Amino acid sequence: MKNNKKFCSSIFPFFLSIFCLPHLLLQADASAAPEDFIRQPPRKIVYTQHKRSESEPQQVHVSLVGKDNMRVTWITEANHVPSTVEYGPEPGKYIGKETGEHSSYHYFFYRSGKIHNVKIGPLDPNTTYYYRCGGYGPEFSFKTPPASFPIEFVVVGDLGQTEWTESTLSHVDNKDYDVLLLPGDLSYADTNQDLWDSFGRLVEPYSSRRPWMVTEGNHEMEIFPILHPQGFKAYNARWRMPYEESGSTSNLYYSFDVAGAHIIMLGSYTDFDQDSHQLKWLEADLGRIDRGKTPWVVVLVHAPWYNTNTAHQGEGESMRKAMEELLYKARVDVVFAGHVHAYERFTRIYDKKADSCGPVYITIGDGGNREGLALTFKNPASPLSLYREPSFGHGRLRILDENRAHWSWHRNNDSDAFMADEVWLDNLSKSKACRDGKDEQSVKDEL
Ligand SMILES: [Fe+2]
Repeated sequence: MKNNKKFCSSIFPFFLSIFCLPHLLLQADASAAPEDFIRQPPRKIVYTQHKRSESEPQQVHVSLVGKDNMRVTWITEANHVPSTVEYGPEPGKYIGKETGEHSSYHYFFYRSGKIHNVKIGPLDPNTTYYYRCGGYGPEFSFKTPPASFPIEFVVVGDLGQTEWTESTLSHVDNKDYDVLLLPGDLSYADTNQDLWDSFGRLVEPYSSRRPWMVTEGNHEMEIFPILHPQGFKAYNARWRMPYEESGSTSNLYYSFDVAGAHIIMLGSYTDFDQDSHQLKWLEADLGRIDRGKTPWVVVLVHAPWYNTNTAHQGEGESMRKAMEELLYKARVDVVFAGHVHAYERFTRIYDKKADSCGPVYITIGDGGNREGLALTFKNPASPLSLYREPSFGHGRLRILDENRAHWSWHRNNDSDAFMADEVWLDNLSKSKACRDGKDEQSVKDEL
């Protein structure tokens, strides 16, 4: 299998150039940047080698599934390895063992390893568990999130696998957190499947220890006419999220509860119009929220609905038109997006106007991708855009209690303790005026 993979890797660039060129040109056209758009030179791609045996787990990551369970996902080159996870609260002493399922996929000449998915639990909150995958290899550990506030999320988009990515991840690792949220564009494999494996190995030291909850970006699509018309083949196989548990029929959009937060992961690259499953699902999902149980509602999406960078202008506009009113009426607290490789924080907005009952919009697409930064913002700055900067970094949303949360943005060029931007957020469901359906602000700034 290893030799076969090497062969595929070596001929892949040629194959790609012959067969994928028309599609890639179409993609490039769709996101064409204006002439004055300049990107900072990116750093090198980091290719992370496989250093374990064929039976040992690689690319281990964990994700939340249901109220008190965790899904463990890993890949083996050997097919005989069972999809089992042994686990317990003490190192080496496994009191639980669960069996899950496995799959693999083809993408042209590439065939993935055996992708294992095992759900374990019920687990206690805020507890470290030690686990072993398939009976082989090293022991891993993760910590479950707390059952109640406070809870801390790391939010980072457009991660990629470059030296900037390594810098971002080491900054993330400098301070503890409970759950990582990723609003799309993970590996930047872009049809080169070996880069999905490399990405899985790069992030494993982090994604095996804390739940990583992701949604898809354009770099996950990997659509090829006739042979892979639906796209997302690698993404769906490798990064299975708890969509069934939230009543969704697609891995491309779902929601989950953790501590007192309801997190909604939307899909920018699947249908979202009036007749779409996604829109109907979103409406039902928002209708099920009990703000007594989950006072905070946070949404993630890849293509931003508000954006004053010159890159990717207008790409989230049709989705905004389809869904913004639903989010506004549900009093969503924050909407995070990626796609634009920069950081930008807006005030509370509804329908392109400042609105104290609308969500705060934050673009956090600065994780470390290979394309570099989106350097140019429109001038003059909109009064709705409160902070904008093209630097690599990550964000942290710390929800202290049912009333208050703190958002901070940390640049890779600073120590992690330094907050380049920060803001306190009040929970919208606690605002009497917003509950009664009235915006408190009479004079409204416009975008
Ligand atoms: Fe993107």
